[in-house]
Amino acid sequence: MDMDRPAALVTGASASIGAAFARELATRGHDLVLVARRAEPLHALAAELKDRHGTATEVLAADLTDRAQATAVEERLADAGRPIDLLVNSAGALSTGLFPKLPIEDEVRQVELNAIVPMRLTHSVLSVMLDRGKGSIINVSSIAGVAPTPFSATYCGGYSFLTTFSQSVDLEVCRYGVTVTAVLPGFTAAEADPARRIQAADRVVREALAANAAGRAVCVPGLRNKRAAAFARLAPRRLVRFVMRAAQDS
Ligand SMILES: NC(=O)c1ccc[n+]([C@@H]2O[C@H](COP(=O)([O-])OP(=O)(O)OC[C@H]3O[C@@H](n4cnc5c(N)ncnc54)[C@H](OP(=O)(O)O)[C@@H]3O)[C@@H](O)[C@H]2O)c1
Repeated sequence: MDMDRPAALVTGASASIGAAFARELATRGHDLVLVARRAEPLHALAAELKDRHGTATEVLAADLTDRAQATAVEERLADAGRPIDLLVNSAGALSTGLFPKLPIEDEVRQVELNAIVPMRLTHSVLSVMLDRGKGSIINVSSIAGVAPTPFSATYCGGYSFLTTFSQSVDLEVCRYGVTVTAVLPGFTAAEADPARRIQAADRVVREALAANAAGRAVCVPGLRNKRAAAFARLAPRRLVRFVMRAAQDS
């Protein structure tokens, strides 16, 4: 990697939002470290970005819920000799169903991936960022974390943690030139589908990067999601609960 070019590490880079981050960052002149379990799509993306933009890319294939494999990623982030300017935590998982019927070990792993792993990676990269007096962290959370949602209780709980954690750390480090932004997308896919309320991943990415550059600790991409998040934050709890229950029954 060229030390004159900014470097970003993106988890979940083998699919959807993470891959869209990698593509957008490559167009903006970043070199990249790509992380996910499957090496093949990461190498394919690395080849594409090298061809299109001359991007230098490292591939780190790792299951982030495996302590030994995650440690390799943490060590890469903490390497002051090869500093990372931007960390994007986009690896995540969703399970749905009646909570007591879901295998508990899967649910625990989901909290690990969606909440604990971003916390650990944020911790790993921050020392170097604070020493350098600059750096950016984008934690891809979910709008699902702003209100209680039946049948995805673990997902909502994990992202509720990640959103609040990210804002709290941002308050600690913003005076040292580092911004931590929690991004709360709604339904997102490679292609937008307004009829099904699905946003395009590249739009989510551009809004997230703009929010982080502006020093904002929270980014809710899209007007519809902004309205929903504002309702969940401002409306009385009982009303939010009523609406969420009605939405499930309809
Ligand atoms: N898409 C949406 O509608 C939406 C809405 C709100 C929030 N989000 C959140 O946004 C993030 C990205 O969403 P997405 O739509 O891009 O998800 P996705 O298409 O399901 O991709 C998930 C990514 O995480 C990686 N991953 C999964 N388990 C992993 C593990 N144990 N270790 C390392 N990497 C792992 C996957 O790669 P491998 O399979 O190769 O490991 C993949 O790159 C997630 O955190 C998701 O919860 C998504």
